[in-house]
Amino acid sequence: MKPLSKGLKKILVFTALVSVISIGYYIYALFVYAPVEENETFLSEIGEGFGEIGLWLLLFIYARTLIKLLLGKGAMSKRILPEYSPPIDPKQFNKLIHYLDRTHIYFGICAVAIILLHIVLMGIPMNILFFPAVLILVIWQGLFGMFISWKYSPKELKKFSYLVHAQLFTGIMIGIFAYLGHLLIDD
Ligand code: HEM
Repeated sequence: MKPLSKGLKKILVFTALVSVISIGYYIYALFVYAPVEENETFLSEIGEGFGEIGLWLLLFIYARTLIKLLLGKGAMSKRILPEYSPPIDPKQFNKLIHYLDRTHIYFGICAVAIILLHIVLMGIPMNILFFPAVLILVIWQGLFGMFISWKYSPKELKKFSYLVHAQLFTGIMIGIFAYLGHLLIDD
């Protein structure tokens, strides 16, 4: 069996570490904080809908990344899977990838806006650290995504923004924190 690439190893170790620390914090939060009741107001009902849409948008955004990884397309796939060659001809999917790349900015902006609305409308308990962390990470993705795309960004800022935006680490944290955070909320 081929050894795992450095990039992939980093991602797996990071995921394992964040999972272990987060589960530890989840158990701590279970004992320290009173069970969080879900609000049943008109606004929170709407907020719930936004949460669901936000989740689907994130899944769509990372599906694009996964498709590019599986087809060996893009800078990220060269970084994470340098020796991988796809079993199918990736040229067949050029149109799809082009469409996904062109629309990413719009799906990205929608995802950030809808997740922020979800957080505001639900009145999420910010003393449980999972929630402010997700908020910061979502704003982080949106902000640096905008710096990559904005034509007036200085070259250095663009480079830095690409480095911190086009990676999977924030997505892994958003997924783990949001999942465990929601487990702490009674419904
Ligand atoms: C929560 C929201 C977002 C997430 C999770 C996200 C995630 C990602 C990921 C994983 C990549 C690199 C891998 C890939 O090619 O698929 C990427 C690339 C990129 N993102 Fe985002 N993004 C978000 C929002 C945004 C926003 C709001 C913008 C711009 C306004 C943006 C602009 C870009 C650009 C320009 C690239 C690099 C070029 C490309 O691969 O298309 N992103 N994003």
